[in-house]
Amino acid sequence: MVKAWSDRFEKGLNPFIEQFNASIAFDIKLLNQDLDGSVAHARMLAECGVIADADAKQIEEALETIRQEAEQGNFQVTVKDEDVHFAVERRLIELIGPIGKKLHTGRSRNDQVGTDIRLWLRTSIETLDRKLLQFQKILLAQSEKHVFTLIPGYTHLQRAQPLSLAHHLIAYIEMAQRDRERLNDVKKRVNISPLGSAALAGTSIPIDRQLTAKLLGFSGIYYNSLDAVSDRDFAVEFTAAASLIMVHLSRISEEVILWSSEEFSFIHLTDRCATGSSLMPQKKNPDVPELVRGKSGRVFGHLQGILTMIKGLPLAYNKDFQEDKEALFDTVQTVSDCLDAVSILFEEGLEFRPDRLASLVENDFSNATDVADYLVSKGVPFREAYQKVGGLVKDSLEKKVLLKDLTLDEWKNIDSNFEADIFDKLAPKQVVASRTSEGGTGFERVQEQLLLWRKRFTS
Ligand code: ARG
Repeated sequence: MVKAWSDRFEKGLNPFIEQFNASIAFDIKLLNQDLDGSVAHARMLAECGVIADADAKQIEEALETIRQEAEQGNFQVTVKDEDVHFAVERRLIELIGPIGKKLHTGRSRNDQVGTDIRLWLRTSIETLDRKLLQFQKILLAQSEKHVFTLIPGYTHLQRAQPLSLAHHLIAYIEMAQRDRERLNDVKKRVNISPLGSAALAGTSIPIDRQLTAKLLGFSGIYYNSLDAVSDRDFAVEFTAAASLIMVHLSRISEEVILWSSEEFSFIHLTDRCATGSSLMPQKKNPDVPELVRGKSGRVFGHLQGILTMIKGLPLAYNKDFQEDKEALFDTVQTVSDCLDAVSILFEEGLEFRPDRLASLVENDFSNATDVADYLVSKGVPFREAYQKVGGLVKDSLEKKVLLKDLTLDEWKNIDSNFEADIFDKLAPKQVVASRTSEGGTGFERVQEQLLLWRKRFTS
């Protein structure tokens, strides 16, 4: 057994403390990144003349052997390895003997772990970005089917004004776009190399940090070695961006849950994503959006956990940082799974009910603003028109009639400006069509937006 620590240590660890200290159970997930980082480090050491080319070659080959062993399930690690970095070094030395002992020259686990986690997060961000795009494309396909499907629009969860269903769905495409922009912005700061900062102060070994950064695809290096090994700001930024993704997924989930209730009945849940009750045979439950909504909590928790972990730490590396990994791993897994789940939900888990939606917007007062706007177009000041229509709605509610049921005489009694064309203005399709301001729900505007998104996604 190769000893990880120096001869300063004589006695073994208390077995519980050995477990408590070890991160191998979870940081084995960083194996490929650890191997990539080590390959780059070995090449650089040879390039700088610190180790022989032949040694670097042997080290690299052995690192690739370890990668293959792991792929075949033959890379055995135990708690004795403590973490992935020691596990790889131990196996390397088992494979090639003393030459393997040269790899850790001019490097510490402190810059090594910082490198590994950044490499892992960089790839994870790219995966999440792809999944967000996939979600956007599914929403776009639904939107394209439902430009002329009307849906009640709400404020305060009270009926407000009817909308094009496509307009409603595109709102979530916009949110996902901001999520992608945020992830890509975070990626800029994730993609900086701490490698070669060594334990905290840099190293006396003549290394080339720019070279390892280049080999690993980093866009630059940290210029302060202390900052390099003690920076976890990117983990905060990432979990914050991930939290907002979960906020958006949770909101759309909440809408699906409401829409699928008997009271709303805006959608059918298909058998693909709905589940039954163990007791009530009539039930069809929206478990998928409920789980997504519920899982948002753990991601927000990770953000809080990482912030708290960092806040009191003196420079530079502290073992507290070992706690960043499970938080980041779980955040990525949760967001990734939820994006897949919501994508499936919108692709095959639900069907909108255009007829039901049409009859809802026919039979409410969500065209009241349009009556006020009609009077405005005839020169009546808005506030005056607003008061008049308010009174009209009150009377209509008492008489249990809708605005479309009033006769032209009744309209004229309210205000002489009303003409026969008021009836057109009351139809929900017309109400929606008239919202032609930029960013509004008017069909033309919505179609423009759909074309823009379609173009963005195909170019
Ligand atoms: N397992 C450690 C972590 O995840 C690796 C770095 C340990 N460095 C040290 N000096 N103990 O943070």
